Amino acid sequence: MEVVICATPDEVARVAAAKVARVLRDAGPRAVLGVATGSSPLALYAELAALAASGRLALGEVSAFALDEYVGLPYEHPESYHSVIDRTVTRPLGLDPARVHVPNGMAADIAAAASDYEAAIKTAGGVDVQILGVGSNGHIGFNEPTSSLASRTRIKTLTARTREDNARFFPTLDDVPRHCLTQGLGTIMDARACVLVAQGEAKADAVAALIEGPITAMVPGSVLQWHPHATIVIDEAAAAGL
Ligand code: GLP
Repeated sequence: MEVVICATPDEVARVAAAKVARVLRDAGPRAVLGVATGSSPLALYAELAALAASGRLALGEVSAFALDEYVGLPYEHPESYHSVIDRTVTRPLGLDPARVHVPNGMAADIAAAASDYEAAIKTAGGVDVQILGVGSNGHIGFNEPTSSLASRTRIKTLTARTREDNARFFPTLDDVPRHCLTQGLGTIMDARACVLVAQGEAKADAVAALIEGPITAMVPGSVLQWHPHATIVIDEAAAAGL
């Protein structure tokens, strides 16, 4: 696990984007990018968009797979991850929408949607580089504490803490969905490289547990200690607990 501590959140975005761009270039024009929602990677996406706009990174044929989606939230809802990925990734980076995939949280058969998603990632050749944030309870994707370290894409129940963290995007806490469809920790670990970004003191405890704590299902992100090519890019505030 490579840990890079940056002076500022801007530097986090630049360093992480440079790493992601390097892997994408090495993987060729049809590279496969794993994308995360949340505020943590937004500046990183802006950096990638700038690289693409200036012609330094070709993204026209790149495929993308999102980590997760709420169950039962219509695609057109502004906070569905279909909408969020479209708004924050697909459009700014100029990706081909036909090559951008998000789990189908509206499927009548959620178990089938989960295995279809796993199959789609395999068919695309696997993820070359997975961008990650981390939840304040150590979750990655929506793999909440107690998630199996070998888990695959499946339905999960969101914890009270995650629902409270995400309530800022909904009118009331009651409007936050209770279930999600998320890539498993085993799915994420299959990515050939992982780049996790975190900024701010609110993430300091989760970051310390993820990097220096034991590998445990209680801190799902700690599984990245086992990944041969995991890079953790954090600012000084997020590094305060190390
Ligand atoms: C969400 C997402 C995660 C994200 C995390 C942190 O619940 N499912 O992929 O990493 O929460 O979000 P933020 O970056 O806004 O702190």
